[in-house]
Amino acid sequence: MKMCPRHRNSFVIGVISLVLILGSENVKVVNGGSEYEAINCRKHSAVLTDFGGVGDGVKSNTKAFRNAIRNLSQHASDGGAQLIVPPGKWLTGPFNLTSHFTLFLHKNAIILASQDESEWPHLPALPSYGRGRDAPAGRFSSLISGTHLTDVVITGDNGKIDGQGAYWWEKFHKKQLNLTRPYMIELMYSDQIQISSLTLLNSPSYFIHPIYSSNIIMQGLTINAPRGSPNTDGIDPDSCRNVRIEDCKIVSGDDCISIKSGWDEYGIKVAMPSEHIVIRRITCSEMSGGISDVRAEDLIAINTESAVRIKTAVGRGGYVKDIFVRRMNLTTMKYVFWMTGSYGSHPDPHYDPKALPKITGINYADVAASDVKYSARLDGISNDPFTNICISNVSIQLNEQRKKLQWNCTNVSGVTRNVTPPTCELLPEKGPLQCPFPTNSLPIESVKLKSCNTKVFF
Ligand SMILES: *[C@@H]1O[C@H](CO)[C@@H](O)[C@H](O)[C@H]1NC(C)=O
Ligand SMILES: *[C@@H]1O[C@H](CO)[C@@H](O)[C@H](O)[C@H]1NC(C)=O
Ligand SMILES: *[C@@H]1O[C@H](CO)[C@@H](O)[C@H](O)[C@H]1NC(C)=O
Ligand SMILES: *[C@@H]1O[C@H](CO)[C@@H](O)[C@H](O)[C@H]1NC(C)=O
Ligand SMILES: *[C@@H]1O[C@H](CO)[C@@H](O)[C@H](O)[C@H]1NC(C)=O
Ligand SMILES: *[C@@H]1O[C@H](CO)[C@@H](O)[C@H](O)[C@H]1NC(C)=O
Ligand SMILES: *[C@@H]1O[C@H](CO)[C@@H](O)[C@H](O)[C@H]1NC(C)=O
Repeated sequence: MKMCPRHRNSFVIGVISLVLILGSENVKVVNGGSEYEAINCRKHSAVLTDFGGVGDGVKSNTKAFRNAIRNLSQHASDGGAQLIVPPGKWLTGPFNLTSHFTLFLHKNAIILASQDESEWPHLPALPSYGRGRDAPAGRFSSLISGTHLTDVVITGDNGKIDGQGAYWWEKFHKKQLNLTRPYMIELMYSDQIQISSLTLLNSPSYFIHPIYSSNIIMQGLTINAPRGSPNTDGIDPDSCRNVRIEDCKIVSGDDCISIKSGWDEYGIKVAMPSEHIVIRRITCSEMSGGISDVRAEDLIAINTESAVRIKTAVGRGGYVKDIFVRRMNLTTMKYVFWMTGSYGSHPDPHYDPKALPKITGINYADVAASDVKYSARLDGISNDPFTNICISNVSIQLNEQRKKLQWNCTNVSGVTRNVTPPTCELLPEKGPLQCPFPTNSLPIESVKLKSCNTKVFF
């Protein structure tokens, strides 16, 4: 499998991964409206058809979405508003959300992303990246975006959003892009975000990209893109704090969940780390600003390149620290544990060769894996070793392509306990019986969702 060049330090769970977890069925239809759970309910409601929307899959609804959201933004300070996308196929170009706002997709609603490039506004490169990932100039707007928002919900009764990405993937493969491909959903500089109970298909590039944002709940999402579709990462929190990702099924062409924080000198300058992140009942997971306090548990991965991966390089700077992962059930993969300090892609030649990333406090416990080729490839940076690695209670069953050197360790230090096959000299068997996992809970874990209603009967 050819890996497309990737840019950042990353903490990745599930590379080219199929992730299978139970989705949540938390939407039901009751007396005349759909009931759903959200961080906040809304006083005002409108339906896309009120604004001239046509759900025939042919007519563009770009104006309908933009007019609806502009109109509904007037209710922000009066209880907020929800926009219902009713049954139908709603072709649209990009639109921006507003604060104190809910976008709700009926279960038979499908939003189809336009393949007409003239519909897609151009945006400058992100400050923590310095350039676009597909092309140095700017980037196309995401399909659904928001900037400087508070309290925004994108949810539905498992309604669908189809990014119709094939058009963009082909241009990417033919090197015809002079701007970076759109993401499906991107929220920037925003606080209190919920994205839940939706089926997301075929994004042109990343599916969900919250950046420079906080207090984010993502749950009950089914995400699906063909194997090998370029950079179709599932969920990529980037320079975000207080993030809860749970009960998602993700099948993607690239990473399942990837935690990031910028790229080389641009990320270092912006200096917004990703931290306080809880990931559970999912499979899958990137940095220049830093990544810390990530707690991931109850992960299933089937047929992936690796289960969890941390990737960085000289020049990336930043840190990855206090990462806790436990209870993973893994089937069919190249590496169970993969950390690399030679992930050598850079935005430009101006990276600082003295900017060494600090990778420390990485804990893995209770892992069962089968059909594995290599147990671990842990490759730190010379004179900048990855330290305080702890691995306990791990049972790995190898396949026929197994390699002789199962634990290939360079420039790393730490301890292990109850791990088969036996580990490397740099990670001796003398750790605690169980590697640590935090017992306190993060504030984002205790956010309770309210029971809301669309108030519209279909
Ligand atoms: C939008 O907002 C105005 C009030 O500002 C209202 O009069 C109008 O009917 C609303 N709805 C539509 C569909 O334009
Ligand atoms: C969304 O907002 C951003 C920044 O506020 C702006 O640059 C962009 O053009 C807007 N996109 C659309 C589709 O209106
Ligand atoms: C952008 O790419 C297209 C081909 O996809 C090309 O025709 C066009 O000239 C390019 N524009 C710029 C500004 O490079
Ligand atoms: C792990 O997954 C395999 C196959 O998906 C399943 O048969 C097995 O019961 C699971 N084990 C645990 C401990 O969940
Ligand atoms: C070891 O990990 C397995 C899952 O792989 C789990 O079922 C078992 O309870 C763990 N053992 C201990 C002592 O925690
Ligand atoms: C071990 O890993 C290093 C890089 O860290 C690589 O160059 C080497 O080929 C690997 N050795 C084996 C036997 O796989
Ligand atoms: C890093 O690993 C390489 C390859 O094993 C080794 O030659 C070098 O001495 C190591 N650096 C340090 C500082 O241990």
